[in-house]
Amino acid sequence: MEFQRITAAEAAALIQNGQTIGLSGFTPAGVPKCTPAEIAKKATAEHAAGRPFKISVFTGASTGQSCDGDLSNADAIDFRAPYTTNPDFRKNVNENRLRYSDLNLSNMATQIRQGYLGQVNWAIIEACAIERVGNKAHIYLTAAGGISPTVCRLATEGIIVELNAFHSPKSKGIHDVYEIEDHPYRKPVMITKASDRIGKPYVEVDADRIVGVIECNVPDEARGFKDPDAVTCQIGQNVADFLLDNLRSGLIPKSFLNLQSGVGSGANAVLGALGQCPEVPDFNIYTEVLQDAPVGLMKQGRVLSASTCSLTVTNDCLRDIYENIDFFKDKLVLRPSEISNSPEVISRIGVCALNTAIECDLYGHVNSTKICGTKMMNGIGGSADFASSAYLSIFTCGSTTKGGAISSIVPFASHIDHTNHYIDAVITEYGVADLRHKSDMQKAEELIKVAHPDYRPMLKDYLKFAQKRGGHTHHELSAAFAMHDTFIRKGDMRLTDWAEYIK
Ligand code: COA
Repeated sequence: MEFQRITAAEAAALIQNGQTIGLSGFTPAGVPKCTPAEIAKKATAEHAAGRPFKISVFTGASTGQSCDGDLSNADAIDFRAPYTTNPDFRKNVNENRLRYSDLNLSNMATQIRQGYLGQVNWAIIEACAIERVGNKAHIYLTAAGGISPTVCRLATEGIIVELNAFHSPKSKGIHDVYEIEDHPYRKPVMITKASDRIGKPYVEVDADRIVGVIECNVPDEARGFKDPDAVTCQIGQNVADFLLDNLRSGLIPKSFLNLQSGVGSGANAVLGALGQCPEVPDFNIYTEVLQDAPVGLMKQGRVLSASTCSLTVTNDCLRDIYENIDFFKDKLVLRPSEISNSPEVISRIGVCALNTAIECDLYGHVNSTKICGTKMMNGIGGSADFASSAYLSIFTCGSTTKGGAISSIVPFASHIDHTNHYIDAVITEYGVADLRHKSDMQKAEELIKVAHPDYRPMLKDYLKFAQKRGGHTHHELSAAFAMHDTFIRKGDMRLTDWAEYIK
C-alpha cells in the first residue's frame, strides 16, 4: 500500500504551537525544505491573527534559508539546537529573539534520547526513496545522516517525509545508519577504518508512523565557497609541510592519519592544497562535512575513502556524485552525526583534526564561535568532538581578517571553545606554531611568530607588561581585551594604545 501523499502546507497544519520538530540533514545538506518554509508561513498567519505560534527545532547541524532563515524571521522559533550558519538566524540570535543552544554535534542525538531537550513531536525527514517492507518503512536519506534515526524513533506524533526528486534514488546505499545504545548498555562502535559499515542503508520505522509523504523537487540550499586566495593557499601549504615534517620524523605513523577537515572556505581550501602536495601520501577522511575540494580529491585517487555525516557540497558537486555513484559507493559512507563525530572512534582510529579558529590567544586557547566574545558566529559544530580526541589537533586561520583590522592572535581569547590542552598546532599563512612539548610562555613565543607582522610588536609589548604580574601564564587583566575593545571603539585593533589600559 502506498504511503499517503500530502502537501507541505498540510504537513505544516499538523504542527502545533509549543511542539518540537526534529529534522533530517546536517548543514543545509539533506534538510527538509518545503515543510519548514510552510511552518514559517503558518507562524506569520497565526501571529497576524493574534495567536501565539512558536516551536522548537532540533537538527543535526546548520540548515538553510527555508528553515533557520524563514522560521527565525517569522519569529516562529522558541528554542533551537545545535549549530547554524544562516545569516538571518545569526542576526535573530544576536538580537536575542530566540533561545539557541550551541552543543557539540556528537551529543545532539544522545541529549535528545536522554530527554535533556524535552520531547520530539514530529520527525521531518528528507528522503530520496521510501519503501514499504511488510509493516516497516525503509527511509533512504539524502545528503546527510544527522539525527534522523533518533528523531524518527522518538517522534511522538509521527514522521513526515519529504521525498525530494532532486536527490537521485541511485544514491541508495551510501548511508550507514546505526544508532548508539542508551547508557549503561552502550556498546563500542565497531568502526576500525573510515570505510567500515556497521548499520543499515536506511532508517527503519514502523510503516504506520509515516503520517504523510510530500513529493517535491528542490535543490539543496548549499552555500558556495570563497575561492582559495593567497592566504588560504599558503595556510594549506604550511599544513602540508607540517604534516610532512611529522611524517619524516616519525611523529605520525608512516601509514598517515585519517584527516578531518572543518567547515567553511578556509577548511575547503586547506584540504584542496594538501591534496595537491605530491609528498602527502594518499589518505582517508573521517570527518563530519565533506566539501567540494575533498570530493575532487576522491576522483583523483588522492582520497582513498571518506566517512562523513554530510555532503556539504555545491549542487553541481552533488549532481556529479549522483551521476558517478558507482565510483563513489564503496569509497563514501554517510553516517549519523553521533557516529561520524564519535570521540571514541576518533581517538581510536587516529585522526588529524583540521579546524578553523576565529581567534587564538597567546597561550593557545581557541575561540571558534563568538565575535568579540559576544556575537554568535555559527557555533562549535563538531570542532570539539574532533579536536579533543584527535591524534593531532590543528587549528588554522588567516593571521588577520577584515582587511587587517582584526588580528586572529590576541592576548586573551574573548571566548574559549577549545582549551590549549587539546591543541597541538596553530597554523596561519606565516607558519606553524607547534605547541607540543612547550610551556605556556613558549607557546606564546610560537604564536607571536605566526601573527601578522603588524601585530607582532603589539603582542610582544603586551607580554612585557604582563610579565610584571608573574605567574605560569603572564596576563595583565586590565589590558587582556584591549585589542578587542579598541576594535569595538575605533574599528581597528592596530590602533591599540596600551597606555589607555595599563595603569
Ligand atoms: N573577528 C571578527 N570576525 C571574524 C574573525 C574575528 N576574529 N575571524 C573570522 N571572522 C569573520 C570573517 O571576517 C568572515 O566574515 P565575512 O563572512 O563577513 O567575510 C567570517 O568570520 C568567516 O570567516 P572566514 O575567514 O571566511 O572563514 P571560514 O568560512 O573558514 O569560517 C569559522 C571560519 C570559524 C567561522 C568556521 O570555520 C566555523 O564556523 N567554525 C566553527 C565550527 C567548526 O569548526 N566546525 C568544525 C567541524 S566541521
